[in-house]
Amino acid sequence: MIFFAKYYVCSMTQDELYMRRCLDLAVLGAGTVSPNPMVGAVIVCENKIIGEGYTSPYGGPHAEVNAVRHVLETFGEERALVMFRSSTIYVSLEPCAHQGKTPPCADMLVRYNFFRVIVGCLDPFPKVNGLGLKKIADAGIQTQVGVLEQECLFMNRRFFTRIQQQRPYVILKWAETSDGFFAPAEPGQQWISNAASKQLVHKWRAEEDAVLVGTSTAMLDNPSLTVRLWKGRNPKRILIDRDLVVPDDAALFDGMAETIVFNAKRADWQGKRKYIALENFALYLPQNILYQLYLMDVQSIIIEGGAKTLQQFIDAGVWDEARVFQSKARWTTGVASPRLSARARSSSKVGNDTLSFYFRDTY
Ligand SMILES: NC(=O)c1ccc[n+]([C@@H]2O[C@H](COP(=O)([O-])OP(=O)(O)OC[C@H]3O[C@@H](n4cnc5c(N)ncnc54)[C@H](OP(=O)(O)O)[C@@H]3O)[C@@H](O)[C@H]2O)c1
Repeated sequence: MIFFAKYYVCSMTQDELYMRRCLDLAVLGAGTVSPNPMVGAVIVCENKIIGEGYTSPYGGPHAEVNAVRHVLETFGEERALVMFRSSTIYVSLEPCAHQGKTPPCADMLVRYNFFRVIVGCLDPFPKVNGLGLKKIADAGIQTQVGVLEQECLFMNRRFFTRIQQQRPYVILKWAETSDGFFAPAEPGQQWISNAASKQLVHKWRAEEDAVLVGTSTAMLDNPSLTVRLWKGRNPKRILIDRDLVVPDDAALFDGMAETIVFNAKRADWQGKRKYIALENFALYLPQNILYQLYLMDVQSIIIEGGAKTLQQFIDAGVWDEARVFQSKARWTTGVASPRLSARARSSSKVGNDTLSFYFRDTY
């Protein structure tokens, strides 16, 4: 394995190595930058990294600004201004061209007169979409796009899904026994995965904007859906409860995070609870829920069950990724796991559990 890793690094070009570093930085923004994309930037002068940065929490400076500030702070303004003129800046996503919560990054790169700007992939956001790179190229700066492009697209699959499909990126998550059971035959809770898997799920929650469960799961498992075994912010909690049967003292209503209840009866606010009434629960429920969440700038969601709820999202074709833990336990009877017609792209061990990742298509 060590040999393989070494070979892999050696076979990368210099540009790919620096873009790899951008991706390592970008991921540090997970769970804080949404609905912005996760971006990393590296500034290289005479073959040395002189500054790096990644996107600050939403509303804060973008990766390029943080990398530039890093150089200014390290070398002082006078020296930094000279260095920028012979530097290449690598950015995992095209620099923005528009005024948003912060000024356009493309203008800043032009102002500092960089020698080269190398970008992992274009930004499909309509106000950018090639315009950032055009501004830079029009100013006479060398540009290149497409270094580690697939990896850069994958890094921002949540952002691209929201922009291009007008819905959050959907991650399905469940645990099953080695013989494919999801829940006991008699209604109730029986834990399947191990403690390490549980902690990993809390980390995942900290990285996504929302987490959803169905009525029976809320009633039988009484989940909190928080990140208490990890650090980070709790995601929005989403509950499907058509007839509002989940009691007031349920953990989902403990005030630890915002909870949105999709139901057929009520549309109002109560503290951190928001009730959204849907007219028709029988038609396009997953699509309607996702559209409402899209309007709230929710960029990603984990569907944590139960089986009926997960299967509805699968059958509606609105899922992007599935993360399935399989334990060694054999139950021989019970509620069957959701049916997914996709092959695992990768599998690894989390203690005794096997964790498999599935992807619907694009990524
Ligand atoms: N293995 C795992 O990873 C995992 C994860 C979570 C839960 N679980 C287990 O799974 C079991 C619960 O799963 P489940 O499949 O029975 O329940 P579920 O998916 O949590 O909830 C299903 C219920 O939610 C309501 N609902 C969902 N979609 C609806 C729609 N389109 N229209 C109207 N109502 C809708 C319905 O309630 P009504 O029928 O009352 O209308 C439906 O019966 C529990 O035993 C729990 O412990 C296992």
